[in-house]
Amino acid sequence: MNAIDPNVAADASAFTDYLGRHEKKSLLRFLTCGSVDDGKSTLIGRLLYDSKLLFEDQLLSLEKDSRKHGTVGDDIDLALLVDGLEAEREQGITIDVAYRFFSTDRRKFIVADTPGHEQYTRNMATGASTSDLAVILVDARRGVLTQTRRHAFITSLVGIRHVVLAVNKIDLVGFSQAIFEVIVADFSAFAAGLGFKTLTAIPLSARYGDNVLERSLQMPWYEGQTLVEHLEAVVVDDDAAERPFRMPVQWVNRPNLDFRGFSGTIASGTVRRGDAVVVAKSGRTSTVKSIVTFDGELDTASAGEAVTLTLDDEIDISRGDVLSGTIARPEVADQFAAHLIWMADDPLLPGRPYLLKIGARQVTAQVTAIRHKIDVNTGGELPAKSLALNEVGVANLSLSEAVAFDAYAANRETGAFIIIDRLSNLTVGAGMIDHGLRRAGNIHWQALDVDKRTRALAKGQKSAVVWFTGLSGAGKSTIANLVERKLTALGRHAYILDGDNVRHGLNRDLGFSDADRVENIRRVAETAKLFVDAGLIVLVSFISPFRAERQLARELVEEGEFIEVFVDTPLDVAEARDPKGLYAKARAGEIARFTGVSSPYEPPKEAEIRLDTTSAAADVLAERVVAYLQEAGVIPGVEVTI
Ligand code: ADX
Repeated sequence: MNAIDPNVAADASAFTDYLGRHEKKSLLRFLTCGSVDDGKSTLIGRLLYDSKLLFEDQLLSLEKDSRKHGTVGDDIDLALLVDGLEAEREQGITIDVAYRFFSTDRRKFIVADTPGHEQYTRNMATGASTSDLAVILVDARRGVLTQTRRHAFITSLVGIRHVVLAVNKIDLVGFSQAIFEVIVADFSAFAAGLGFKTLTAIPLSARYGDNVLERSLQMPWYEGQTLVEHLEAVVVDDDAAERPFRMPVQWVNRPNLDFRGFSGTIASGTVRRGDAVVVAKSGRTSTVKSIVTFDGELDTASAGEAVTLTLDDEIDISRGDVLSGTIARPEVADQFAAHLIWMADDPLLPGRPYLLKIGARQVTAQVTAIRHKIDVNTGGELPAKSLALNEVGVANLSLSEAVAFDAYAANRETGAFIIIDRLSNLTVGAGMIDHGLRRAGNIHWQALDVDKRTRALAKGQKSAVVWFTGLSGAGKSTIANLVERKLTALGRHAYILDGDNVRHGLNRDLGFSDADRVENIRRVAETAKLFVDAGLIVLVSFISPFRAERQLARELVEEGEFIEVFVDTPLDVAEARDPKGLYAKARAGEIARFTGVSSPYEPPKEAEIRLDTTSAAADVLAERVVAYLQEAGVIPGVEVTI
């Protein structure tokens, strides 16, 4: 066992010593799956305790220290290690994965660990994409559970090919060989279809240390390796360096006019000085002039190394671009099919815009269709309209712009992405790309001679969306109707899209679930965009309860074209008015998911116009909207004659 004192370790030279001792050892990254009940924390604690190790965040600060102190000579290994961790942290900004580092005389280990019961999918999807092996824990008293099968399934899904089935708490079942064998048979039958290369079952007691590091004296019937012996010896052939060259550009390094380099960690493959490279998305090619690292220039660099490349030509490359070899290029598309693991309490809503982060690129993305979800117990396909916490499904995604990627099966680094909620900024899902979709690829935008501005000009106005949002009965339609009358009287051209009306036609297939409301607004936002293109002033009157979709509608049109009008009527007032008698029905339980009663309404935070319907008559409020349109130059101002 090797150990270093955390305090001493803060000193860069002690660290260099430490690395010197460890440099030659190979590194195994693994993941533990199981809940607190299964003894996961105890097992990790046992591994760290028995190997007398410190670590975790010290590593990061240490690395920064050593850079500051300029001891760049010997810390290649450290930089490599830490860059890897930093990149992952960046990938999973909001994910609570703790990486723990320990080592034995034969190998170094990084174990990805998360606290908590429910959150294991987060761990698995982030920690897992770089892990070579998974330790799946089972409580010997409880055997293989749905959760165990889920762990095994996700392990396989994220491309881990080596599994240890750790049958823990074997002491609590009297070190029984029979129980162990039943569990192993059970698990093996399920795992048979999951494509694992090695599956090693070990009976152990994390609590007492049996078969963790030291061989147990209680189980003479077990002749296999201890957990640590196995982890030290298992061969996980990492072929990352042999795969095609990929490097997502993390930043463009331009300290002065004479130097322009592209920095990032090589995701896969090897690059040599003089190699031809291509920017995947633009297709522009150049040749590698130099490979610069912290320790000077290299002739060649491979997967996992953090480098800065300079090129022979001044081609346009920015953060998020992917550099690749000129042969075996990545795919480039703005739509793809992927396996998704959902990890948020709020379900996945198709049509809702999320952020999608792949490599160093972040774009807006929508799930356009969920093909099916997967029953993790049987592997069977089930129909689904959305995905709930911890569910796995296959979906089509559509991105705001094309990105470069590989199928996950071909490259775990460039085929994985995470999904982030745009409002909470939390990571809500993880995905593995199956293949690109060519949907829009062969459909070209038809260029038309008359454009939006010309159409609007002919009507003496600028195009605009006036988006009325508020509770049912707030007065949206009443005010929108008055605004249309006033605009028409002024000789302007407007059109109302009203929730109740559109739901009779275009959206008649939609109900009032969250997913359907999202789709309702998505369609009407797209329709409003077409009307804007027609040069019209579109008055949209929909409850539109969610901020995310109103934001989507705003982003579909140009800056300044979207005017959000919050028809602010308190619930009790709307309910007292109850123009359609719907609140009464909702309270009586006759209408499910009624906005304000049994379904949420998220009021706008920064609407262009807020109308307080309790303080003025509808006509006065409509006049305010018209006045706003005049001030904003959407319609000409009224000429004042004296
Ligand atoms: S939204 O939430 O999807 O934006 P939308 O504006 O299209 O709603 O439709 C709202 C109208 O549908 C309401 O004015 C009301 O007349 C009717 N309605 C019927 N059921 C519901 C419900 N459960 N929640 C809200 N409105 C409902």
